[in-house]
Amino acid sequence: MKASEEPFTEHRKGKFVISTDQERFDVDVVHGFLTECYWAQGIPREVVVRSIKNSLCFGVYCDGEQVGFARVITDYATYAYIGDVFVLGSYRGHGVGKWLMECIMCHPSLQGLRRWSLVTGDAHGLYTKFGFTPLKNPERYMELHDPQVYKRNENPAKEVKS
Ligand SMILES: CC(C)(COP(=O)(O)OP(=O)(O)OC[C@H]1O[C@@H](n2cnc3c(N)ncnc32)[C@H](O)[C@@H]1OP(=O)(O)O)[C@@H](O)C(=O)NCCC(=O)NCCS
Repeated sequence: MKASEEPFTEHRKGKFVISTDQERFDVDVVHGFLTECYWAQGIPREVVVRSIKNSLCFGVYCDGEQVGFARVITDYATYAYIGDVFVLGSYRGHGVGKWLMECIMCHPSLQGLRRWSLVTGDAHGLYTKFGFTPLKNPERYMELHDPQVYKRNENPAKEVKS
């Protein structure tokens, strides 16, 4: 089942709402955060739109405005990768990030998976609360990581020269 075909889920807590409704995401907020963050700096808006469309995404809203986000890349059967998790600055430190993780982990289409994974620079303490651990067998993991991809694509002429 494609993410866009999933019936959306919604959770409420006071003035906050967490929703997976694809129609509701504020792409300007999501792109505005991601293009400045350490892991996706310079990401083009069109790539953000495509990534949202093809993932199970969770938006956090306060008084109707988007204040947080997380994206789950999954086959809905065996595996899920959690990425692009953020809560906007002034909303941090009040349990919103933990609630967002709770909503992700209890989503009905993400039960019984064999593996979850994520990558984090410094938020290990958040994910530890949900059972995540450092890699048990790091020697078995491989990656092909291209952190310069958005910089290079911004100016392809430079790539040819270097
Ligand atoms: C990480 C983030 C989503 C947490 O959201 P939040 O609403 O501030 O989190 P909460 O208030 O629910 O608390 C998070 C818990 O994790 C802990 N934690 C561990 N590392 C943390 C970190 N780097 N940042 C925030 N919390 C962290 C906190 O101490 C807190 O635990 P506690 O309740 O036992 O004190 C938010 O700080 C954020 O957007 N940071 C910038 C983007 C980012 O780093 N995203 C994660 C990429 S993997």
